Amino acid sequence: MTAAVPSRPTDRFDLTGRTAVVTGAARGLGRAFAVGLAEAGADLVLVDLPGAEGIDATAAQVEALGRRARVCGQDLADIDALPGFVDAVRAEAGPLHILVNNAGTAALERFNEITPASWSHIMRVNVDAVFFLSQRVAEHMTADRVAGRIITITSKNALVAEAGLTHYNASKAAAQLLTETLAVELAPHGITANTLAPGMVETPIDGEFPFDREAFEAAYRERIPLGRYARPDECVGALLLLASDAGAYLTGARIVVDGGVLADQMPRMRFMPPYRNTV
Ligand SMILES: NC(=O)c1ccc[n+]([C@@H]2O[C@H](COP(=O)([O-])OP(=O)(O)OC[C@H]3O[C@@H](n4cnc5c(N)ncnc54)[C@H](O)[C@@H]3O)[C@@H](O)[C@H]2O)c1
Repeated sequence: MTAAVPSRPTDRFDLTGRTAVVTGAARGLGRAFAVGLAEAGADLVLVDLPGAEGIDATAAQVEALGRRARVCGQDLADIDALPGFVDAVRAEAGPLHILVNNAGTAALERFNEITPASWSHIMRVNVDAVFFLSQRVAEHMTADRVAGRIITITSKNALVAEAGLTHYNASKAAAQLLTETLAVELAPHGITANTLAPGMVETPIDGEFPFDREAFEAAYRERIPLGRYARPDECVGALLLLASDAGAYLTGARIVVDGGVLADQMPRMRFMPPYRNTV
């Protein structure tokens, strides 16, 4: 069957009739992704910890756009439960077209303070759950003959290290490579797998970190060429590209949405003469 030729460029981003699963949808980036997918026409399966505060507010925003929102409480660290969880979601929601592996967790700890419990919790949520959810969802996509989309939210920390986050950095690098491998194995089934690597985004993820937030954020902003943290909704455009027909030939790719941080090897701009227009 030949795909219909879109009449407007935005038609390529139309997700009407598709169902998207977003993990970590109660707040932060997950909520922005869920709302963005709903704006593009998708129905949503919203996954977060059982009883997560904020998940009903995300569902209300999705429903206000006229889209279906199913709320599913599931601790993704419970790896053994994930295949059965995905089977139940598929049975209730019908074919799954898009999986956004967004849920993630972090802790700020020096390398010598990291306990086995802390290490393995971060690995379970950021790596094991990403893999075993993707594995089962992809099996349903192939059984349903769905040209699906798997999008894993990694981080600039998948590509460059940052002190105090050994486990987090390692988990995001693992998520990067596992997603790229899925891209290769799933390509014959028409399923794409890509990563979206945000830089610094205004979300509560580091809310419990024991540090001087104001001083850190001021110092960090100076390292960001665009000069500020992203709002969560500023990562949605890249997500919609990876989730829709517009990104049909993108697989095994990584899209970095970091305001230019990784492009800048060192803060030389601060030591250069002031900019003077030459026109
Ligand atoms: N905020 C940033 O600056 C930033 C930068 C780069 C990457 N990221 C990544 O983006 C993703 C979203 O981050 P965020 O900033 O919105 O985080 P957040 O902490 O605001 O939200 C994460 C959500 O995931 C859920 N979650 C955590 N553990 C879970 C579990 N075991 N089971 C089910 N749900 C669980 C939380 O309840 C929460 O609702 C994460 O993967 C994060 O690593 C964030």
